[in-house]
This record gives sequence, C-alpha cells and structure tokens, in this order.
Amino acid sequence: MSATANSSGSAPFAPGKSIVIVGMPGAGKSSIGRKLAVRLGVPFFDSDAEIETAAGMSVKQIFERFGEDEFRKGERRVIARLLGQPPHVLATGGGAFMEKETRDLIRTRAVSIWLHADVEILLERATRRNDRPLLQGGDLRELMMGLLTKREPIYAEADLKI
Ligand code: S3P
Repeated sequence: MSATANSSGSAPFAPGKSIVIVGMPGAGKSSIGRKLAVRLGVPFFDSDAEIETAAGMSVKQIFERFGEDEFRKGERRVIARLLGQPPHVLATGGGAFMEKETRDLIRTRAVSIWLHADVEILLERATRRNDRPLLQGGDLRELMMGLLTKREPIYAEADLKI
C-alpha cells in the first residue's frame, strides 16, 4: 500500500485533527478506519451508522422514503456534529465528500484520506451487498463507472491518497 500527498504538496500531518476517510463504496473505508482508530487509540465513527442511529432506519430506507437530497442533508449534519468532537477517525459514505459544504468542513477540521481501490475490487465487493441505493436498478458496472468518473476528480482533492 502506498500513500501520496495531493497535488498541493502541503503537509497533511496535523496533530489534534480528526482523520476522515473518503472513497467509493466497497473501498474498505470502515474496516480500515476501525483499524486505524485502534492503532491511534482514538474513537472510530462511521457516518452511515450514525445517520441510521439518528434516523432510526437504514440508509436504504432513508433513500426510499425521503430521497437522496434528504439523506445528504442528514449526512451533512451528522458529519458536522462528529467533526465538532475531539480527534477521531471517521469513515464517510461514498457520496459525502461530493457535497461542497461537507468537503469544506472536512478540509478545515480534519485530515482527509482517499482510500482508493481498483474498480474490479469495488465491483466484486458490490455484488456481495444490495443495500447501496446508488448501485441498484441497472447494470452494476455501468453504475459504478458512472460514479467513478464523476467522483474520482473530487476524491483527488483529499489530503492523502492510499
Ligand atoms: C453512498 C454510499 C454508501 C451510503 C449511501 C450512499 C454513495 O456508503 O452512504 O448508500 O453515495 O456512494 P458506503 O460508501 O459506505 O457504501
């Protein structure tokens, strides 16, 4: 595994800041985030899990009942609340970093890591789950490629890519 700093070349290390992991669904944000938090001896949070607890329903149900826009609003609120807490590791849902407001917040309050994974790995993992609304109702490869094309330039704004 290799890490590269983003194109600004700025030093991403920032003691006292949280670490926010961004990237595509299936990249491994939660499992890596959890391990990183243990290593660092800080709490771990998962934005999707926090949204589900706050809403009392699953991400899939939120999308079905209220739509993506409402989900994004909830996601923004949850991430803002978490980033107001002492340093921790936060794994975000794949679309969170696409929201400018959320991205700005992450930029000011945390060090962001883009966890990058090969598309074939993402696809293989995606076939094991059917609870991701944006990867339902069409050809999985096409849906995934569509998201990747839109999102990779934005993920690339993260402080580090691993
Ligand atoms: C989403 C990814 C999901 C979840 C929601 C939307 C996305 O999280 O937040 O289904 O927009 O890519 P994971 O990246 O943890 O699967």
